[in-house]
Amino acid sequence: MEINRPKLHFTPVKNWMNDPNGLVYYQGEYHLFYQHNPFDNVWGPMHWGHAVSKDLLNWEHLDIALKPDELGTIFSGSAVVDEKNSSRLFEDENGGLVAFYTNHYEEGGQVRETQSMAYSKDRGRTWIKYDKNPIIENPGIKDFRDPKVFYHKDTGKWIMILSAGNKAMIYISENLKDWQYVSEFGENLGAKTGIWECPDLFELEVANTGEKLWVLKFDLVRHKENTQSQTKYFVGDFDGKNFSMLNPESTWIDFGRDFYAAQSWSNLPNSRSIWLGWMSNWDYANKIPANDWRSAMTIPREIGLVRAEERYFLAQKPVREIKNSREKIHGEEEFLIRSKEYPIEASAEISLEIEKYKDFEIRFENSLGEYVDLTYNSEGSKVIFKREKSGVTEFSESFEKEMEIGPLIGMEGDELKVNILLDQNSIEVFFNDGIDVITNLIFPKEEINKMSLTSAKDQVRVKKLDIWSL
Ligand code: FRU
Repeated sequence: MEINRPKLHFTPVKNWMNDPNGLVYYQGEYHLFYQHNPFDNVWGPMHWGHAVSKDLLNWEHLDIALKPDELGTIFSGSAVVDEKNSSRLFEDENGGLVAFYTNHYEEGGQVRETQSMAYSKDRGRTWIKYDKNPIIENPGIKDFRDPKVFYHKDTGKWIMILSAGNKAMIYISENLKDWQYVSEFGENLGAKTGIWECPDLFELEVANTGEKLWVLKFDLVRHKENTQSQTKYFVGDFDGKNFSMLNPESTWIDFGRDFYAAQSWSNLPNSRSIWLGWMSNWDYANKIPANDWRSAMTIPREIGLVRAEERYFLAQKPVREIKNSREKIHGEEEFLIRSKEYPIEASAEISLEIEKYKDFEIRFENSLGEYVDLTYNSEGSKVIFKREKSGVTEFSESFEKEMEIGPLIGMEGDELKVNILLDQNSIEVFFNDGIDVITNLIFPKEEINKMSLTSAKDQVRVKKLDIWSL
């Protein structure tokens, strides 16, 4: 099946893409590197593809940044601005960009993963691999990868967190080249089966209390607990060496099936915190309908923390830059609804505030009669997402057709807030300012062009409805 390119979501020009890598803001540009196989539209020898943007939405594609070498292929990692030249890799005191990645080496069924670095003196256009790679040898752990590096102000040290089997390990450094192991976190906490991938660790302010807390995010793959690859987080404290959790357990970040390997941008101005994830799932990523390119990223999302129900929750919403692409196609305030239809564009944003005491259903549909349903059950404040009739679904048995989420968090007040981003092959739903999120792929054979809002039993009161084309 030929599929149209998403309008809002980042896709590679050609061939395969998975995790976002090396997200860094530098001299007016947002960099997005990504796991890339330049030879085929399925996973293969990993390179780092590269793009830059000035607004997080329109991307300029650049040359491949990192290619495999004698130490192995180039797995996931991160990038930082070494602004004081603490690595002494740059000639002048203004420093430059430094990237960290995993070299993945396979021979005769044996796998070896080590950590390496590369640096760029020309705003990320070309990269020089450090001549003493690897900078961290493998300590005897098969899955030992995905270094995320950041600067920790309070201790004045660089920190690296990486995945090590079913936990994360933390290293520190003064010069980005010599790393010392300091702690580990998560064994038997996040995953009973399966392994961790792509950990991230960052500080956020809690919107409604002003506290500053740390979020440790990790991805789980090949685990049985919830069948597929998905992302979780812990909220806690980090003292420059140890992470300790405050919430009693880890929480799912996204209740859909297509949000994975998210990474936060480093060096962002104006104390913003933004990340994006790979919009797919290892269970079927290689089989989703594709042309000569395969996979998209989620929309870049503003991230924050909120306190609710005596816990801390991560909240996500599309970056505010998206407002610049909005063109209003419908706006309505205070009305009662039984059943109503609205014409809609293939890429659109829908924002709804609706009475939380009644059941209702939102359906997105195309002229072939393919549809996606979002059903809200007021009892227990649960939502069911159904993509069974959404178009092409039979490419994999693991492409789950229905999922339930809830009870929704942040249900103070009389209205449920729903914000939906629709694009050619995806639906991202943000409830109650993004405390609960669903990210799901869909493959309709024609573009979605209709939305209907139906109340199951009796009239439901809508406080506000806005529809924009994007
Ligand atoms: C996560 C992951 C990483 C690894 C990369 C390989 O999706 O498995 O752990 O570095 O993809 O492409």
